[in-house]
Amino acid sequence: MVKRSLHIEYFEFETCNGLSEELKGLVAEADSNLKNAYAPYSNFKVSAVCKLSNGEVIKGTNQENGAYPSGLCAERVAIFAAKSQFPDENVDKIVITTAQSSTEPVSPCGACRQVLIEYEITQNQPIELTIKSGDSKVWQFKSIGDILPFAFDGEFLKEKG
Ligand code: THU
Repeated sequence: MVKRSLHIEYFEFETCNGLSEELKGLVAEADSNLKNAYAPYSNFKVSAVCKLSNGEVIKGTNQENGAYPSGLCAERVAIFAAKSQFPDENVDKIVITTAQSSTEPVSPCGACRQVLIEYEITQNQPIELTIKSGDSKVWQFKSIGDILPFAFDGEFLKEKG
């Protein structure tokens, strides 16, 4: 038996001030897009912005529904829209913000992590993730893999056994 362990690195900024100019702009775009969230049931507004390799910035917000499971998280709305319009472009960065403040930034749900990592794996390039909730500190992960170790990879389906 071998005991193994994982080390995950992430970067914490007290405010947006320490971010690059590009990221400050993307965080501001995500924040200003929060007004477009449709969250009448949870009142929890989330916004996500994808920066693509061709420079396009694609935004999404959470979209709820009276039949609860029919709604969708902001991250998936944004990345599905991005890949629907630009299937051949890489997603370089995703920035996620919430209207509500919290001590620690709210990080993506498990289903969104799974969707994000599939694009990260297929494009063979990490997607940088930046998260901030209201006026919380900012966390940055260099790869979706950092928040989803041991991810299920669609390639497993092709393995013979
Ligand atoms: N939500 C997101 O948009 N992203 C997440 O990663 C977690 C949750 C949304 C879904 C729902 O509209 C509301 O937040 C409360 O769960």
